[in-house]
Amino acid sequence: MSVLPSPETTFEDGERETLPVEYVAYAEEVLAGKAHSETAPAFWVAKYEKEAARNWDIFYKRNTNKFYKDRHWLKAEFPALAAGDGSLRLLEVGCGVGNTIFPLLDEVPGLEILGIDFAKRAIAMVREHPTYVAEHTADRSPRVHAAVADLVHDDIVAIVDETFGAPVDCLTMIFVLSAIAPEHHPDVMAKMARAIRPGGLILMRDYGRYDLAQLRFKKGAKLADNFYVRADGTRAYYFSLDEIELLAHAAGLIVDRAAYVLRNVVNHKEGKSMNRVWFQAVLRRPLPADADADAPATRADADVATDAATDDAPDTPSS
Ligand SMILES: C[S@@+](CC[C@H](N)C(=O)[O-])C[C@H]1O[C@@H](n2cnc3c(N)ncnc32)[C@H](O)[C@@H]1O
Repeated sequence: MSVLPSPETTFEDGERETLPVEYVAYAEEVLAGKAHSETAPAFWVAKYEKEAARNWDIFYKRNTNKFYKDRHWLKAEFPALAAGDGSLRLLEVGCGVGNTIFPLLDEVPGLEILGIDFAKRAIAMVREHPTYVAEHTADRSPRVHAAVADLVHDDIVAIVDETFGAPVDCLTMIFVLSAIAPEHHPDVMAKMARAIRPGGLILMRDYGRYDLAQLRFKKGAKLADNFYVRADGTRAYYFSLDEIELLAHAAGLIVDRAAYVLRNVVNHKEGKSMNRVWFQAVLRRPLPADADADAPATRADADVATDAATDDAPDTPSS
């Protein structure tokens, strides 16, 4: 019989660089169990990949704009967005129906946003939003734009260029990379890095490894390590901070900040609590001067530089 804590063992809310040891032990035990030991047959893995855009489109047909709440916490969590009180061009990738776009437009006066998503219905709902309609009928250039685009298969840099004529200052990826199969993560991150200007930022929030939602997947849902399919065909990957740092560095980005966000969420209706694990990260495209300063002279220096780069995470993540 397991002596490990039950999932109801509550976290202390906050930001941390590592997860509580006893929770990791519990989670590892769950992931070693039957439900997580077998992956779905290759036919189904390929089918979910092929139908990814269609499944998200059906998700929005079913849920319209009622599923996600507007994300009013972004400016507080990512102080860099306050720079938009002057002027800031932002790309919101995987924007859905605009739960990130519209609060930011309200709260950051100098912001101009392009939202992209591969779900046609989601982009149609962004364009029907009263703020979008008002922006596009006002007697000045609109502060919001929306386009259907696939982060894996489309040329995102070209789409940004068509809208702004230059790379953006800032890019938000809020619960989006997790929806993409892990084999595409390096290419998608490299594309995102090219869509921002040197010195520009990528702001990320997404699912963290051992989130209770990961542990609760049933047999048949696992598509690859830490990657699962939900009942509606949408998929979710659960990231460790190490993976995020590796992806960032491989895309030539500097990690300004990366931390797990732990939250014990109580479902009052069911009388249950859930240990949610997310992560939050701020990644920066180096300026040419940073690159010159960092450029290793020899292969041996390169190895040292790579080791040093993993120390980019701040000592004390802000809570
Ligand atoms: C969990 S929702 C997040 C929506 C939004 N970022 C927010 O803050 O509410 C994930 C979104 O990513 C989109 N998405 C997933 N894979 C994508 C891809 N390859 N290209 C473009 N959008 C994608 C989905 O259609 C969905 O709208």
